[in-house]
Amino acid sequence: MQVFAAILALRNRIRQLKREDRKIALVPTMGNLHKGHLALIREAHKHADIVIVSIFVNPIQFESADDLSNYPRTLEDDLNKLSLEAVDLVFTPTAEAIYPEGLDARVFITVPEYIFEGVSRRIHFRGVATIVAKLFNIIQPDVACFGEKDFQQLVIIRKMVTDLSMDIDIVSVPIVREINGLAMSSRNHLLTQDEVQRAPELFRVTRWIASVIRKGRRDYISIIKDANIRLCAAGLQPDQIFIRDANMLQIVTSKSTQVVILMSVFLGKVRLIDNQVVKLLEIN
Ligand code: PAF
Repeated sequence: MQVFAAILALRNRIRQLKREDRKIALVPTMGNLHKGHLALIREAHKHADIVIVSIFVNPIQFESADDLSNYPRTLEDDLNKLSLEAVDLVFTPTAEAIYPEGLDARVFITVPEYIFEGVSRRIHFRGVATIVAKLFNIIQPDVACFGEKDFQQLVIIRKMVTDLSMDIDIVSVPIVREINGLAMSSRNHLLTQDEVQRAPELFRVTRWIASVIRKGRRDYISIIKDANIRLCAAGLQPDQIFIRDANMLQIVTSKSTQVVILMSVFLGKVRLIDNQVVKLLEIN
């Protein structure tokens, strides 16, 4: 496994790999790797000859300086995990290397930015889209893998790739869950023991919403009210619940073929997210 911090050296290596006609998959991460990331890497191996993982805590996608400085940085441990997953190249740039002259150009994707995560974290998605576009430009992968856990991020990246004619296949990987249903996340380790017990209720309520939609309920506003009651009863503090068209996160219409339930809750100071897609076609 080769580790590159410098963009130039990485580009030279990639040029060589491209001359050898190797297919390249990229898994962009911010490090602090858990089983969810490893699932992305395993999927990446199925689509390419060479798997590159980037580890970069991207400052421009954080709302607050505190969040950025508190983000766990576990490079040594991450590199050990990556070598066990037969990763070929790891890209670990500094912020100075990525943003040497500040940043006047940004990528921003209108519609899906404005709801859910975009409400409380106003700059987040343009920060994500900008760094992902930069990583795509530096690495020029054939394929890039993203987790369905960050569903809104996935929608935004797919839209960016389509609208900006980027020749990259975006592969999505299902959420990896603990046995109790809690979606794996770098934030889970911030939960107290008591919160860990209560956290899976987020998954249960998401699943409950999916089940009532499958049974034919379409009164989304009432469903959201009921879900809020369920979350509070379980000791979780509801943050946001959206039921939207899964395609571009627009309002659900009679033409929608699948909806996504996007949920976030607070447990103490920790904000957890989850989601589930429900197909409507078969029951309409
Ligand atoms: O999902 C993440 O870890 C980040 O948002 C990403 C895609 C690596 C961009 O910084």
